[in-house]
Parts: sequence; structure tokens; C-alpha cells
Amino acid sequence: MPDQPIRPFSPPTRMLMGPGPSDVHPRVLAAMARPTIGHLDPAFIGLMDEIKALLHYAFATANPLTMPVSGPGSAGMEACFVNLVEPGDTVVVCVNGVFGGRMKENVERLGATALVVEDAWGDPVDPMKVKAALAAHPGAKALAFVHAETSTGVESDAATLCRLAREAGALSIVDAVTSLGGIPVPVDEWGADAVYSGSQKCLSCAPGLSPVTFSPRAVAAMAARKGKCRSWFLDFALVTAYWGSGAKRAYHHTAPINALYGLHESLVMLHEEGLEAAWARHARCHAALVAGLEAMGLPLAVAPAHRLPQLNSVRVPDGIDEGLVRARLLERFGLEIGAGLGALAGKVWRIGLMGQSATPSHVLACLTALETVLSGLNAPIRPGAAVPAANAALFG
Ligand SMILES: Cc1ncc(COP(=O)(O)O)c(C=O)c1O
Repeated sequence: MPDQPIRPFSPPTRMLMGPGPSDVHPRVLAAMARPTIGHLDPAFIGLMDEIKALLHYAFATANPLTMPVSGPGSAGMEACFVNLVEPGDTVVVCVNGVFGGRMKENVERLGATALVVEDAWGDPVDPMKVKAALAAHPGAKALAFVHAETSTGVESDAATLCRLAREAGALSIVDAVTSLGGIPVPVDEWGADAVYSGSQKCLSCAPGLSPVTFSPRAVAAMAARKGKCRSWFLDFALVTAYWGSGAKRAYHHTAPINALYGLHESLVMLHEEGLEAAWARHARCHAALVAGLEAMGLPLAVAPAHRLPQLNSVRVPDGIDEGLVRARLLERFGLEIGAGLGALAGKVWRIGLMGQSATPSHVLACLTALETVLSGLNAPIRPGAAVPAANAALFG
């Protein structure tokens, strides 16, 4: 033990504008602080049913198998692969950033073959390449891709990719960790088969839960498995005994009860606002942030047609130490933005406008702080232009 007494942890005040987590609304924090009850208490079962109904709304789906996995987005990812992919299967995996690479890793760890369709970091998945890969491998079990690549800020065309998978007789596995709540994720309209998300991005809940939804086709594929699911904890044949329908639920694992109170509250808030209004808020804040950044002289790294409103990759000016800028933003303004990853490390910052962090105040505070720090480092920017440009985009 250290010499000093260990005191209760009191987190510093932060404005979270990185790649997630995003700011969590006091209503969600208050919900998580309510008294813990038993995970088989009838009142808790009622809450679980409401969470499922709210997730049906958020995912725009009627899929009966729709629920939160007890674990972060990575657990949702793993749940999709481990339930649907068996040793010896072939899966076409699209890689255009960090998270596509993790999908490949999941496939390979299951003893299956990952056929990688690669696109440059900063570009969307190319449907023509995917079509060719599916045509070249007619027995492929699934097509896996990331809808919103958080490592780059790129949106891929999920509707087209899901259609290509269906036409090829393959299941679609879609990463919607960063997209859900920020841009449309119409699961049934896409005909997507397995979709997972995360609580800490545009849903603005605390991290640690992963909403998932599976189509009847995916459920049939699970039922037709040759062997048992390779994970006990994530095996949906077992998990659904707890998260299934009807009043009778069997113990599988002790649910993260207070975390689920928080998810419920964040989904209630999304429903109150309305999906369309939430998407419009993200788009409006994105337009203002981009207007401000460009007026300052900081270009975005992704072409306008493929930009995610909730994750903005901004080019670091030549000669500027990007880590020093982030450190100063945090120390001086309590503002967190993200670093570039992989191929974009050192070259971009990632500015998140997710959930509760997608507000005009966040945009204006971020532009002001960034301009102040960059001016202090004699960066080649245009001072004084960003905030007026963002205000004009916001308020006309
Ligand atoms: C696109 C994407 N997929 C998966 C994950 C993994 O989620 P988690 O960190 O909650 O495990 C993330 C997290 O940033 C993500 O952005």
C-alpha cells in the first residue's frame, strides 16, 4: 500500500470529444446510482423487457433476438463471431481500419479462414471488391464489415454490403459500435443478420454494454451449428434463457444491474429526442465543426461523401507535435480529443461528436481551445476565423 491514505476517487472535470466514451448525461449517471436489486427480481425483468423494446426502436428492427451483451463493444463483436462462425468456415472480412482488423482476428481465432478485402485507411469499403470476393468464394459463411470505422471517421455503405452478402447466400456481420444513435442503422431495411454496438459512443451511456441484434436467418444459422459455441459466456443458446421472452428467466450470469439502469435511461432519452432528431443534431454539429476547422486552416482527412458526423479525423499541421496539443487541451481546458491510430498515428486527431458530446457548446469550446493551443505553438493557422464560421453554420 502507498504511504498516503487512499481516498475515494474523484474524477477531474472533462469534456469528452474523443473516439468514445462520450459525455454521459446526469440523468444516466443518476440512474446508475439507484439501489441494486436482484437480477431475477420481477421488477428487473420488466426493465430488461423495456431495454429490449428500446433497442428494437434504436436498431429499427423487429428481430426477437435483440439485447445487450454484458461486456463492451468487443464482447458484442466476439458474440457475433463466436455464435455464427465455426472451424473450417470462410468469412469475407473488410478491413479499412483498426476494427476490421479485429474482425479478422476473431475469425482466425475460431479456426475459420478470413478472406480479407482491404481498402486504404480513410476510404470506405469498396462494394465492387466485396462482390468479387464473394463471387470467388461461393461457400463463404459470412461477410463482416465495420459500418462506422472509428479509427478513421469513415462510413461504409452498409445497405449495399448487406445486399451483396444476402445475394451471395452469406450472413452479414455489421459493426455499428460508433454508428448507433448518430447516423441511421436500419437493421431490417438493410437485411443485416448480426449487428453489434456499444453503450459509450452515440448512446452516451457509460462503457461496458454491447447492444446486439440477430435476424431470424442468423438465429437459424446458430441452431444449425455443427458443434457447440466455443464460448460458454457468450453462447446465445444459453444467454437467451435469461434474456429471452416470458416472465420465466433462468440464471446464466449475474447481469450488470446498475449498468443496465444506465443503458435504459440513455435509450429512454434517445426515444424522447427521437432518432431523426438525434441524427440531425449530430449532422448539424459536424457541419459547424468542419466549417470552423476549415476556416482555421485544418483540413479533414476523409472525403466529404464518406465522413462520419460523429468522428472527425483532422490533419495535424506539419511540424506540430500532436501529442503535446492533446496534452495541453486536457491540462488547460479539460478537453479530451483522440490521437490517430495505425496508419494515421501522428497524422490526425480524432474529434468525436457523439451523443451528449454533439452540442453547439462542445463544438465552440473545442474550436476555441484548439485555436488557443495551436496559436501558442505558432502553428500555421488562421486565428479568429473558426468560431464565426461555426456560429454561421449553427445559427445562420
Ligand atoms: C468500430 C468499433 N468497434 C469495436 C469497438 C470496441 O468497443 P469497446 O472498446 O467498447 O470494446 C470500438 C471501440 O472504440 C469501435 O469503435
